Amino acid sequence: MQANATSGDIKDSRLAEEGSKRIQWAAREMSVLRLIHDRFKKNKPLKGLRVSACLHVTTETANLALTLKAGGADVALCASNPLSTQDSVAAALTVIHNIPTFAINGEDNNTYYQHINSALDIKPHITLDDGADLVTTIHKSRSELIREIIGGTEETTTGVIRLQSMAANKKLLYPIVAVNNAETKHFFDNRYGTGQSTLDGITRATNILWSGKTVVVIGYGWCGKGVAMRAKGLGAHVTVTEVNPVRALEAVMDGFHVTNMNEAARQGDIFITVTGGMNAINSDHFPVMKNGAIMANSGHFNVEIDIPSLETQSLKKHTVRPFVEQFDMPDDKTLFLLGEGRLINLAAAEGHPSSVMDMSFANQSLSVEYLLNKKGKLSADVYDVPTDIDQQVGKLKLASLGIKIDTLSKEQHTYLNSWEIGT
Ligand code: ADE
Repeated sequence: MQANATSGDIKDSRLAEEGSKRIQWAAREMSVLRLIHDRFKKNKPLKGLRVSACLHVTTETANLALTLKAGGADVALCASNPLSTQDSVAAALTVIHNIPTFAINGEDNNTYYQHINSALDIKPHITLDDGADLVTTIHKSRSELIREIIGGTEETTTGVIRLQSMAANKKLLYPIVAVNNAETKHFFDNRYGTGQSTLDGITRATNILWSGKTVVVIGYGWCGKGVAMRAKGLGAHVTVTEVNPVRALEAVMDGFHVTNMNEAARQGDIFITVTGGMNAINSDHFPVMKNGAIMANSGHFNVEIDIPSLETQSLKKHTVRPFVEQFDMPDDKTLFLLGEGRLINLAAAEGHPSSVMDMSFANQSLSVEYLLNKKGKLSADVYDVPTDIDQQVGKLKLASLGIKIDTLSKEQHTYLNSWEIGT
């Protein structure tokens, strides 16, 4: 299909019906977003707003796009990763819902950036990003768009770090709300979402038995905590490596074996990178790994495993099944790399389950509304999601799960807000 600002660029429009059913299935678990959708549909708070979104094109993202559209926004969508697009979802959005989507699973780097540029051709007032490729493209090559941009949101830890670095260097030219920093985002999406979907992706790609394996989790941020917890739950022996002493201690006290990568590289059957950084598995590690070791990444970019070094060191590589590449190494050893080192949970599985994306995307929707209400009042910086939005998302999620909680009595409230009452 030919790409233009209204038509989208998708793999196959015949997949639209299937995509539509899958989007509806995800919606069943997205109760908070549903409430926001219904309010938006009634009050149209986003009327006339143009939104360019660069997110993983999944059933959950489709429900976010439909929510923004229900609020009156014109949305154009592109992928935030070349391997994460669900082609049927892209087809449904473009063909059935009239949301131009520029995303084809497996697209090359050039197409990936062409698609980002196509999503920008609607001249957005608001940008939604996951990893900051959209925002950096605007700053590097589409700066004429900034005049009309009110603000943007960022979904992920890696993107927030990039944007904070831009802000610190006075390079950021419009305000961004860091959705990742909301507690109702990273406590659940990063931990339970990444934990479950990463193991799901590796299992779908390999069909390995986790029980009894030595799994090395590299990085013990929110995502690493989730991955380690779930691997342990499946009966694996989990080793954690970290560079941050406090997080390393946390891993020790959570009951994990903690050591450095030089040692862990010799012990692991499966390695999972979740650092947000680069070369966490590097050229020193491949030669000492066990025969048959499997490597996967669940951090945002495909730089956590030094793939160029792996290719240089190997004698030959070939694909042995979808998402599994075998590298024949000197010394008669084979190593395996999953999903080209890209986010394995989105490449080989379906990303985080809808129920956690519900909270992430409720924060996204309400942050878009917040940015619009704050138009012209925020300077070019990175902002947290306002606490009242975060609390509201938590409250609505609990209510939708039918869970009751307590409230402070007047007396308890006064006590907690006073300094005079002691022993
Ligand atoms: N990031 C991780 N999982 C996701 C999903 N299911 N949809 C959109 N973005 C995601």
